[in-house]
Amino acid sequence: MRPIQSGEPGGDSIQARRSPGYPTQASGRYLFPRSSWHTGIGPSVVRAEINEGVAATRVLHRGRITPGHGRLYLDNTQALVTFVGVQKTYDGTTLVVPDLNLEIQRGEFLTLLGPSGSGKTTCLMMLAGFESPTAGEILLDGQPISRTPPHKRNFGVVFQNYALFPHLTIAENVAYPLTVRKVAKDECTRLVARALNMVRLEGLDARYPGQLSGGQQQRVALARALVFDPQLVLMDEPLGALDKQLREHMQIELKELHRKLGVTFVYVTHDQGEALTMSDRVAVFNDGRIQMIDTVEKLYETPSNRFVAGFVGDSTLLRGQCGTISAGQCEIVLPSGESLTGVNVNAAASGARVFGSIRPERIEAHFDAAPAAGNVMSAIVKDVIYFGDHLRLRCTLPDETEAKVRMALTSNAQPQAGKPVWLRFPNPHLRIYT
Ligand SMILES: Nc1ncnc2c1ncn2[C@@H]1O[C@H](COP(=O)(O)OP(=O)(O)OP(=O)(O)O)[C@@H](O)[C@H]1O
Ligand SMILES: [Mg+2]
Repeated sequence: MRPIQSGEPGGDSIQARRSPGYPTQASGRYLFPRSSWHTGIGPSVVRAEINEGVAATRVLHRGRITPGHGRLYLDNTQALVTFVGVQKTYDGTTLVVPDLNLEIQRGEFLTLLGPSGSGKTTCLMMLAGFESPTAGEILLDGQPISRTPPHKRNFGVVFQNYALFPHLTIAENVAYPLTVRKVAKDECTRLVARALNMVRLEGLDARYPGQLSGGQQQRVALARALVFDPQLVLMDEPLGALDKQLREHMQIELKELHRKLGVTFVYVTHDQGEALTMSDRVAVFNDGRIQMIDTVEKLYETPSNRFVAGFVGDSTLLRGQCGTISAGQCEIVLPSGESLTGVNVNAAASGARVFGSIRPERIEAHFDAAPAAGNVMSAIVKDVIYFGDHLRLRCTLPDETEAKVRMALTSNAQPQAGKPVWLRFPNPHLRIYT
C-alpha cells in the first residue's frame, strides 16, 4: 500500500487523537488512503508514522469508516483556526477590531501580546464563542464556527474571571469537562489527580473554591481547562494572580505540556518575558490590529515597524529626518545635525520624519578614543547601573536624547558617570522606521 501525502487527492480526512499511554503522538487531523479503510468496525487502533516516530493512535472517527493499518501523514496543510476579515464593535460605532486576518497553525503556541485595550481579550472571546464577530468569520478546521456555542467548541479555556462552580469541590470542578464527556469513573479519577498534581494542588481536592486563595483558584481553572486534553487551549493572562516562583513553574509546565501533547495554545499576556519564553510565535496587537506576527527572535531582532520595536524589548529611540537613501539603507539626520546610517525598514523617503531604534546590547561603548569605523556619536555617561551579570549605562547624546547601553562585565572598561564616551551604532542593528 502506498503512503498518502497530506493534501493529496484521493485521501480523506478523519479526526485522530492521541491515545493515553502514547505520549509521543500528537493529536491532529490525518489523511488515510481509502484502500486501507475497514468498514463496520468500531474505533480501532491504527499505526501512525508521524515524523520519525511510530506510535499507535486510537481513532475517533467521523462517519462509519475506520482506517486499518498504513502509513499516516499529519495533514499540516490547513490551519487549525483562521480568522477571515473579522470585525468587532461593542457599541455599534467604534471598531475595536477593524479587520483581523490570522491563521493559527496546528500544534503551535501562539501568544497575543499588546498594551491594555488593544483587543487581545476580544479576539480570544470571539474564538471561544463568548462574543460574536460583528463581521467576518472564524474557521475551525476550515469550517465556520460562528453558530457553534462555546461548550460545543471543545476548547480548554481559562479567562481572568472565569469562575469555578462554587457548589462543587475542587475535584468535581476539575472533573467537570470529563463528566460531560462521559469519561469512565476510574479514568476520571486518574486524570483529575494528574491535573491537580500538575498545578501543585494535591490534597485540596475535597475543598470548595471559596476555601482557596485567588491564585489557587486560578490553578484549579488551569487544571480544569487541560484535564480533557483539548485540541485547542485558550488562556487569558492565566498566571496573573500567581507569585513569581509559581508563575515560572507553571510556565515551564505549560510549555512542557504543549511539547508533549501537541495541543494548540492561544495565550494572552501582558508579560513580555512570558511571551518570549513560551511562544512559537507572538502576535503583537495595537488598536485591534496585528502589528507583526512572527517568531520571538524575528520580533526582537527585526521588528517590522516602530510600534513593535518600541513595545518588545528595550531600545534607544532617535528622532530625526531621513537623509540620503541607498540600497536598503538610509541616513537619519538628528536635530544636532549629526547623522547615522541604518536599515530603511519602511522605505522612508528623503526628508520624511523618521525614528531610529537600536537594542542596548548592540551599541558599542568606547571610552578612550573614537573608533575608526563610522556611525559614531560622542556622548556623556549619565549613570552606570550594576545588574550583577552586566552593566547598564545611560548616556546623553548631543541633542539630549538618552541612549541605553548594555555592557558585558567581561569588558575591561570602567565607565564613570560624567565622563565622555563614543557610541557606535553598527548599521545592520540601527533600524530606521517611518
Ligand atoms: N463588553 C465590552 N463592551 C464595550 N467595550 C468593550 C467591552 N469589552 C472590551 N471593550 C473595549 O474593547 C477594547 C478592547 O478591549 P480588550 O478587553 O479586548 O483589550 P485587551 O487587549 O484584552 O486589554 P487588557 O490587556 O487590558 O486586558 C477596549 O477599548 C475596551 O474598552
Ligand atoms: Mg484583556
